[in-house]
Amino acid sequence: MDTHSSIDALRQRLQGHSRVAFVPTMGNLHEGHLTLMRAARQYADTVVASIFVNRLQFGPHEDFDRYPRTFDADRAKLATAGVNVLFAPTESDLYPEPQGYFVEPPDLQHLLEGAFRPGHFRGVATVVLKLFNCVQPQAALFGKKDYQQLMLIRAMTRQLALPVEIVGVETTRDTDGLALSSRNAYLSPAEHQEAPRLIKTLRVLRQKLLDEGIAQRETLEQEAVAALDKHGWKTDYIAVRQQADLALPRPDGQKLVILAASRLGQTRLIDNLEV
Ligand code: PAF
Repeated sequence: MDTHSSIDALRQRLQGHSRVAFVPTMGNLHEGHLTLMRAARQYADTVVASIFVNRLQFGPHEDFDRYPRTFDADRAKLATAGVNVLFAPTESDLYPEPQGYFVEPPDLQHLLEGAFRPGHFRGVATVVLKLFNCVQPQAALFGKKDYQQLMLIRAMTRQLALPVEIVGVETTRDTDGLALSSRNAYLSPAEHQEAPRLIKTLRVLRQKLLDEGIAQRETLEQEAVAALDKHGWKTDYIAVRQQADLALPRPDGQKLVILAASRLGQTRLIDNLEV
């Protein structure tokens, strides 16, 4: 595996490669990322990963500065996961001048995660488009754990006619059900034990939805929030939405997904469950 930080060097390296699969990351890699890397091999002869902690998607009070940067360990993991090329730009490689052009996603950016993280998805969409322009992949893989991010990137790719196939990959979980996330590193040992309650609560909600019907949605969402918060969580939202567009469920039987974000101590965890 070779590593490039400049866009020019990356482009030279990839010249003549007709099938490239791409996995963008912000580093601090765990088994979930490595699952994406291994899956990428099915889509291309050349697998490119990127590591870039993207300032544009962090709010002023978020964890940009303390976001774990573990470059050497990440590089070793990528090499063993069969990645061919690592793109690891510095901030001045990717943003040599202040970024004045942005991708402004539609209303979907203001819902759910977007309501709690203003500007987040604008920063994500902008960097993903820029990374796509650098790597020019034929396929790009994203985890379903960041469900809304995946929806937004799919929609951006469709609406801007980008020549890349977006692949969503199932969430990787610990044996206790906890979704793997770089932010799990912030949890104390006691919080780590408590954290699987999030997915367990979503599973209970899913079963009740199936038993009692969609008409009970709001009551069941509120019950789920109360079930978490009585164990010390501070829940931002638990919401049942349509998989296709994350809109409120219509009565015509669209496929549903339950999305959640909740704070355990200082750590904000997100998860989701398709119904
Ligand atoms: O999911 C992430 O790690 C980031 O949002 C991404 C897609 C790498 C963009 O910075």
